[in-house]
Amino acid sequence: MAEVKVGLQDVVIATTEICSIDGQRGILTYRGYNIHDLAEHSTFEEVVYLLWYGRLPRPAELDELRRQLVEHRPIAPEMVDLLKRLPPPQHPMETLRTAVSALSLYDPEAEDMSLEANRRKALRLTGQMGTIVAAFGRIRDGQEPIPPDPNLNHAANFLYMLTGQAPDAETARHFDVALILHADHSFNASTFAARVTASTLSDMHSAITSAIGTLKGPLHGGANEQVMRMLLEIQTLDRVDDHIHRLLAEKKKIMGFGHRVYHTEDPRATVLRKMSEALGRRHHDTRWFEMSKRIEELMIREKKLNANVDFYSASAYYVMGIPVDLYPLIFAVSRISGWTAHVLEQYANNKLIRPLAEYTGPTNQKYVPIDQR
Ligand SMILES: CC(C)(COP(=O)(O)OP(=O)(O)OC[C@H]1O[C@@H](n2cnc3c(N)ncnc32)[C@H](O)[C@@H]1OP(=O)(O)O)[C@@H](O)C(=O)NCCC(=O)NCCS
Repeated sequence: MAEVKVGLQDVVIATTEICSIDGQRGILTYRGYNIHDLAEHSTFEEVVYLLWYGRLPRPAELDELRRQLVEHRPIAPEMVDLLKRLPPPQHPMETLRTAVSALSLYDPEAEDMSLEANRRKALRLTGQMGTIVAAFGRIRDGQEPIPPDPNLNHAANFLYMLTGQAPDAETARHFDVALILHADHSFNASTFAARVTASTLSDMHSAITSAIGTLKGPLHGGANEQVMRMLLEIQTLDRVDDHIHRLLAEKKKIMGFGHRVYHTEDPRATVLRKMSEALGRRHHDTRWFEMSKRIEELMIREKKLNANVDFYSASAYYVMGIPVDLYPLIFAVSRISGWTAHVLEQYANNKLIRPLAEYTGPTNQKYVPIDQR
């Protein structure tokens, strides 16, 4: 019997030049640049360029990418109509999955598999993802979508389209950093799903739709929402210990902890912890940060499990005023850059991804006619 690697754990299935993770030392790089450096000095737009083109842009190149992203932010009026007509979802990720799939019907190059057309589709999808999420956020509250503001960067424009108010510079920068931190993470489940779909030479929109369906799960992009729901249920710092002890005694998983690849602190959590604290202070609401800090202490002490990217992003987004059920969609607003970079890399050197399974079912069965069963 061949060795079975359940969950593909520790299996290396391809090479990539986009992103590296050192799970032992807690080091994440995009194209060789440490995530801490990028979080401190870069912008989301610059990171998008880096992921797509493999190097940092020169000023004119960055200006051009910014201009193109701004140009592609608006969505077709038919898409707004669609968002208005779709029934209320049980979870907003259903709407995002449907909307991104529908975008291909309005994309004149949907079936054009040339590199140039695929790069343009990556641009459109990245420009439009935030517009769809913000439009959905408003429509479901009975409000009209707000058109994008070309004078705002990607992060600030998203918060503006969602809330109707341009964020202050500090909040906008924190959100920009959150987008940088979520932009890519090598062969995580949703990126892998996108690459599997792309490896059949299916189109970019299909690959991204697969990724969104995969991101939706609570073990992946749904975790940050669950973290906030837990914090809201606990409500106060003095109730944290009892709540966490009870969940652990019931052998429940605490969302936002543990990781398949990191065996030390997730370097994104290091940045997000500081962000959650700073945003809490800025918005005069540090309760969620303080509760998170206590949960983290307990989890390290009792389970030796570190916080992952989803843990502190929850309390950070909450004080920014982002509705809790939109957290996984925010993940997609950023990760679209990494997904599309991976789809382009997959197309550039494609091999159908098709693993094997060890069959463990019954053998040598004799067919029994239906009237004799
Ligand atoms: C991320 C995750 C799916 C990785 O899973 P994995 O590599 O398959 O590891 P497992 O789920 O098998 O966990 C290994 C052990 O640690 C425990 N564990 C892992 N994460 C845990 C958590 N968040 N809370 C409590 N226990 C946890 C498991 O119960 C298991 O214990 P056991 O061996 O006694 O059964 C897992 O840590 C998890 O479910 N975390 C919560 C969801 C989350 O935050 N996801 C976002 C990831 S960025």
